[in-house]
Amino acid sequence: MSNARSDSLNYRVLGIETSCDETGVALYAPSSGILAERLYSQTKLHARYGGVVPELASRDHIRHLIPLVREVLQESGVARPEAVAYTAGPGLIGALHVGSSVGRSLAFGWNVPSIAVHHLEGHLLAPMLESEAPKFPFVALLVSGGHTLLMDVSDFGRYTQLGESLDDAAGEAFDKTAKLLGLPYPGGAELSALARHGDPERFHFPRPMTDRPGLDFSFSGLKTYAINTLRSLDGQSMAAEDVARAFEDAVIDTLVIKCRRALAQTGRHRLVVSGGVSANTQLRQRLSKMGAGMSAQVYFPRPEYSTDNGAMIAYAGYRRLVAGAAEGLEIQARPRWPFATLV
Ligand code: KG4
Ligand code: ZN
Repeated sequence: MSNARSDSLNYRVLGIETSCDETGVALYAPSSGILAERLYSQTKLHARYGGVVPELASRDHIRHLIPLVREVLQESGVARPEAVAYTAGPGLIGALHVGSSVGRSLAFGWNVPSIAVHHLEGHLLAPMLESEAPKFPFVALLVSGGHTLLMDVSDFGRYTQLGESLDDAAGEAFDKTAKLLGLPYPGGAELSALARHGDPERFHFPRPMTDRPGLDFSFSGLKTYAINTLRSLDGQSMAAEDVARAFEDAVIDTLVIKCRRALAQTGRHRLVVSGGVSANTQLRQRLSKMGAGMSAQVYFPRPEYSTDNGAMIAYAGYRRLVAGAAEGLEIQARPRWPFATLV
């Protein structure tokens, strides 16, 4: 990245995340890390509809964003940050507009730069907020509710896609299967908790697309597999935890196989795993074990930074700012924003 701004090294950056159903705000300072942060989850609001209702999400972001910004500024004792970063996409357009309008307006009022952040770059860089931060280059597995991607990351802003899900994202598959099992939205963490009580031997689900070369994924068949398994049991008791276990084991095995393949293919020795599904304890354990077996270091964000949050946006904004990414005056929101075009 050219045009680096050496004067921005001490900039404190306010980060705003509103791409889906979490309102996240955080203040990052390069000298001390996250100074203050707040997160408001809309999960309860959407739970009764079984999924995110975009219009309700936008309205709730409007309700909570400015109070959260105020709290973060008060707690950190910072009246005027040196820059404002906001998630500009991908995500729900109305929800994105709340963060982008408020973020751009604050930057305008404070007369400081604003930075449009790609949500997935936020996830990708989140492990760098930990004391044991990964160094470039590395392979990244991004597993969230909306995306499943394997990327080769040679440097900051140098991303090459290695593979992606051809249908449902891993988190989406977790959520849809959780719904089938009668668990509340979003369901990924709940399904995983249920799976702990399940018998790993009772059912065996396929490991999709692992029997052929390549790094793409397909998870929608596992949901169908779960439906058919439940139907074949016809109301037998004690099935839900066994189905949850078979499903989770299949997703995790598949992710482990593809990560091992991606590391072997690229010759990298570091793997960064982020996005909501990276909060999964079983996935963390299995990938760490896999890494140890092939002399690769595996990095995760702390679980709170696996799922959506403002801290990762503040940090990604800071990195973009240092790389010279401050923008003009147009309000930015991009519901579709291919990650590979970011360079
Ligand atoms: O990154 P994220 O917060 O939002 C998106 O950008 O999509 O990811 C949310 C996804 C949801 O599908 C949720 O069920 C899943 O992450 N998730 C989990 C766990 N915690 C969150 N999936 C499996 N196991 C978990 N422990
Ligand atoms: Zn996310």
